[in-house]
Amino acid sequence: MILTFFDLLVGFKSLPKLKKLEILNLGYNQFNKTNIKQLSGFTSLKTLAISNSNIEGFFPFEDFASLSNLEILDLSYNSFNGIVSSSIRLKSSLKSLSLVGNRLNGSLQYQGFCQLNKLQELDLSYNLFQGILPPCLNNFTSLRLLDLSSNLFSGNLSSPLLPNLTSLEYINLSYNQFEGSFSFSSFANHSKLQVVILGSDNNKFEVETEYPVGWLKGLTLSSCKLTGDLPGFLQYQFRLVGVDLSHNNLTGGFPNWLLENNMRLEVLVLRNNSLMGQLLPLGPNTCISSLDISHNQLDGQLQENVGHMIPNMKYLNLSNNGFEGILPSSIAEMGSLGALDLSANNFSGEVPKQLLATKDLGILKLSNNKFHGEIFSGDFNLTWLDFLYLDNNQFTGTLSNVISRSSRLWVLDVSNNYMSGEIPSQIGNMTYLITLVLGNNSFKGKLPPEISQLQRFVH
Ligand SMILES: *[C@@H]1O[C@H](CO)[C@@H](O)[C@H](O)[C@H]1NC(C)=O
Ligand SMILES: *[C@@H]1O[C@H](CO)[C@@H](O)[C@H](O)[C@H]1NC(C)=O
Ligand SMILES: *[C@@H]1O[C@H](CO)[C@@H](O)[C@H](O)[C@H]1NC(C)=O
Ligand SMILES: *[C@@H]1O[C@H](CO)[C@@H](O)[C@H](O)[C@H]1NC(C)=O
Ligand SMILES: *[C@@H]1O[C@H](CO)[C@@H](O)[C@H](O)[C@H]1NC(C)=O
Ligand SMILES: *[C@@H]1O[C@H](CO)[C@@H](O)[C@H](O)[C@H]1NC(C)=O
Repeated sequence: MILTFFDLLVGFKSLPKLKKLEILNLGYNQFNKTNIKQLSGFTSLKTLAISNSNIEGFFPFEDFASLSNLEILDLSYNSFNGIVSSSIRLKSSLKSLSLVGNRLNGSLQYQGFCQLNKLQELDLSYNLFQGILPPCLNNFTSLRLLDLSSNLFSGNLSSPLLPNLTSLEYINLSYNQFEGSFSFSSFANHSKLQVVILGSDNNKFEVETEYPVGWLKGLTLSSCKLTGDLPGFLQYQFRLVGVDLSHNNLTGGFPNWLLENNMRLEVLVLRNNSLMGQLLPLGPNTCISSLDISHNQLDGQLQENVGHMIPNMKYLNLSNNGFEGILPSSIAEMGSLGALDLSANNFSGEVPKQLLATKDLGILKLSNNKFHGEIFSGDFNLTWLDFLYLDNNQFTGTLSNVISRSSRLWVLDVSNNYMSGEIPSQIGNMTYLITLVLGNNSFKGKLPPEISQLQRFVH
């Protein structure tokens, strides 16, 4: 029996009569602890979900002792607090437990937890759990998903780490306080593993990456102190969809092979490493939609047909590198480009007029380059632009077209250029504008009184 919203209207009090109820979803409501207690009558319950319901206070796990058939328990995104270990009485029948996004704390090192060894999914992320990973976790051999991210877990992650959990498909240990040096040899037999997320600013452990893993789809090793070339085992992964190796000290050139080997790769984040040298011509890859290689030491020109080769980019961040030369007009062939950040490079020449009429562009950041030309010419027509940073270039011309055609702008920064003309009074119609920076140009005339209609005015 599945409870409907109508049953709820009839009244929560009658619920304990529903002894045969197997699935109960009460999520997205405003319950509190008292109400929860009444659930202990549902002895047939297999699935209980009460997420996002504002429940506060110490969680009355003892009330669940009678739910001996419970298989799925989802109490995510409430405000439970307290030390779980002292009272948890969940049944070993449990297959899926989600306590994401509460304020639970305590260690998992206690018998009640070890009994949950039939679990297939365990998600304790975004809590305050602490202590080491309990040794009995390695007995949870059915686990497919293990997410302990964003807690205060500590201890050493040196191998072997969870060697028996060969059913694992997804593991996320990021944002904790682990130490030691983690080796992928721990996962040598984990052939089902698809997503590994280890990195964070808090984890202090280092990652050794010399061992091949099976067929990864997602890998995040952000802030993991990786040095040298990209982890070699990535050469043998052909099903990657997302890779984030940001905030390391990786060297070598841009890994063209990653895009060539992984025709399904959608997201590649190599931000803040030490990649250097020129970009070699990219071959066609129609899946990649998000590429962040900002904060590296890459240089050279962008290939003429770049937009042709990676046409489905939605997010492209090349900022803080040494790229130079003219921006190829093919970049406008990235038809669904929503954010383009080319700031802090050495690009020069005019911005291709095709790019300035791209339909979806919401963020355009060209700051700190050597672009010139009349940026807001008649061709300029970026209707959906929210953020426009053109500062520190050599742009010329007036503001009238940007004001009439990009009326949704939140941020307009054209400072440190050679713009001229008067500030049009229509600027008062830009009701979303939060930041307007016009300093160090050759604007003249009076400030229009309409400018006082703007919500906030800077410079
Ligand atoms: C929560 O439970 C208390 C009893 O413990 C009750 O007095 C209060 O009205 C309840 N709050 C809401 C919002 O239902
Ligand atoms: C793992 O399970 C076995 C068999 O049930 C048991 O003997 C052993 O103590 C468990 N290990 C831990 C660390 O709990
Ligand atoms: C870049 O990554 C290093 C770690 O390799 C980190 O210390 C630094 O804060 C990061 N810089 C930025 C700008 O994120
Ligand atoms: C591009 O990356 C830099 C960091 O390297 C970041 O500060 C900036 O916000 C990113 N640009 C966009 C549009 O997200
Ligand atoms: C700007 O583009 C929109 C479509 O996004 C079009 O309707 C409008 O006519 C264009 N305006 C100019 C001046 O080209
Ligand atoms: C004003 O902008 C120009 C063009 O970008 C630049 O060369 C110059 O240094 C800027 N002056 C100041 C005082 O920032």
